[in-house]
Amino acid sequence: MRTAGTSSGLDETLRTGEPAFPGIFGAPFFTYVNRDAGARELFDTGMAAFSEPMDALIAGAYPFPRTGTVVDVGGGRGGLLRQVLLHHPDLSGVLFDQQPALREHVLLEPELAGRWRTAPGDFFTSVPAGGDVYVLKHVLHDWDDDHAVRILLSCRRALAPDGRVLVVDSVPSPGNETHPGKALDVAMMTIVTGRERGPAELDTLFARAGLLRTRILPTPTFASIVEAAGSSSKASIR
Ligand SMILES: C[S@@+](CC[C@H](N)C(=O)[O-])C[C@H]1O[C@@H](n2cnc3c(N)ncnc32)[C@H](O)[C@@H]1O
Repeated sequence: MRTAGTSSGLDETLRTGEPAFPGIFGAPFFTYVNRDAGARELFDTGMAAFSEPMDALIAGAYPFPRTGTVVDVGGGRGGLLRQVLLHHPDLSGVLFDQQPALREHVLLEPELAGRWRTAPGDFFTSVPAGGDVYVLKHVLHDWDDDHAVRILLSCRRALAPDGRVLVVDSVPSPGNETHPGKALDVAMMTIVTGRERGPAELDTLFARAGLLRTRILPTPTFASIVEAAGSSSKASIR
């Protein structure tokens, strides 16, 4: 995959507001990686390496329930789910992603035996039902608002009555303050149709999907955990 090509298209992205990736590689990003096994392998390996230093820190930054099921939606090879299950021995997990991403998952550990399953699928259609916590880490930022709402709606439909959806992304503040998420925002703009979103932008998406933000938790990484619940549930807002 010629990754340098995408940033060379930044000027075009700035002119058109469209990602440069399809013009350079002939297809939208996820279509491209799913067509080419080598590109898929490279992307999943790169994504897992990018996430690995953050996974344990994020797993430790959220008060997961003691029991129940965590569904990692678009969870890649499962590095975050692995850490959540290692931190919480009575939780079960579902790793949900496109089939090719699941092939080299990292959940095969004796300590986790019998506590997880993988589920291939398309999050624009549905996600596995009945989970207590749905995690979307570095997923919403890949997509424009309409697609992001469809993913949230799938989670909302699948959510247990008192369940929670966790959006784990950089949540940069508006204005010109420095934040690592702003560099990621430029990358998202050129590669995919997504963006990094602040709290108000996420609230708009949550409202469209029948969700309500309950709190934002910082983590020791550049990402924050934005928690939401069904807007008709008895969730308390903290
Ligand atoms: C940027 S990666 C994030 C992976 C992982 N959550 C992490 O933080 O390392 C986005 C993930 O979304 C998955 N994805 C993209 N389109 C999908 C779809 N339609 N249904 C399910 N998963 C999808 C990709 O396969 C990829 O693993």
